[in-house]
Amino acid sequence: MEKKRENELQSREEAAQIMDMVGIHAAEYMKAMAYYRCAIMEIETKFNVLNTEFSLQYDRNPISSIKSRLKSPLSIKGKLERKGLDVTLENVEENLNDVAGVRVICSFPEDVFALAEAFLKQDDITLVEMKDYIHQPKANGYRSLHMIVQVPIFLSHEKRLMKVEIQLRTIAMDFWASLEHQLRYKKDHDFTEEMMRELYDCATQSAQLDARMDALRRHVEG
Ligand code: GTP
Ligand code: MG
Repeated sequence: MEKKRENELQSREEAAQIMDMVGIHAAEYMKAMAYYRCAIMEIETKFNVLNTEFSLQYDRNPISSIKSRLKSPLSIKGKLERKGLDVTLENVEENLNDVAGVRVICSFPEDVFALAEAFLKQDDITLVEMKDYIHQPKANGYRSLHMIVQVPIFLSHEKRLMKVEIQLRTIAMDFWASLEHQLRYKKDHDFTEEMMRELYDCATQSAQLDARMDALRRHVEG
């Protein structure tokens, strides 16, 4: 707990320094980030509620875990610069969809789609963009369901619409994506054709595992 608070203070200081460097007032930046944190809480709660309801109905949890993150000040600055945009709060809000990120790790592929459907039906959620990398995996084998949504947060004097990136995936998809990410960031340059094929093959095997487990689930649940 102490450690966590210490890290938080350190990153606040780091954020303040970086944003001051580019001319964003640190206090304004902190406020914007607090709003994104509130949006993450709203989204997490919605999925936790769905998990509770599903588990009453089916006697098992469709969600294995939820991992959320706020994009770091350095990544925010880097991404805006790569897009050729000035580092301003307006540009953060208008051009970055993934400042707030929520990853929902599900048990079975079927759960991914059932949860996404139930979530998107909620009348305070607006879908901005959806990418179905499960039915259409990326060339490297990556699978996940991505959504950019807008969710309202209610403050004392106003309601703000915040964008959140949600990634839904199974444990098997998350296993592959986490390891692929580690490998890619470690050895960006010496990724050979053969290693790419090997990774793709692992992705195929993880998809087969998902399909077999889903078939078993259908058998058990009838
Ligand atoms: P970004 O600029 O990276 O946000 O790309 P994009 O706007 O085209 O978004 P996309 O929905 O394709 O991917 C966004 C996020 O999905 C990334 O930040 C990763 O978290 C995850 N992701 C996408 N592709 C891969 C991949 O090949 N491997 C892994 N491990 N993660 C991926
Ligand atoms: Mg991204």
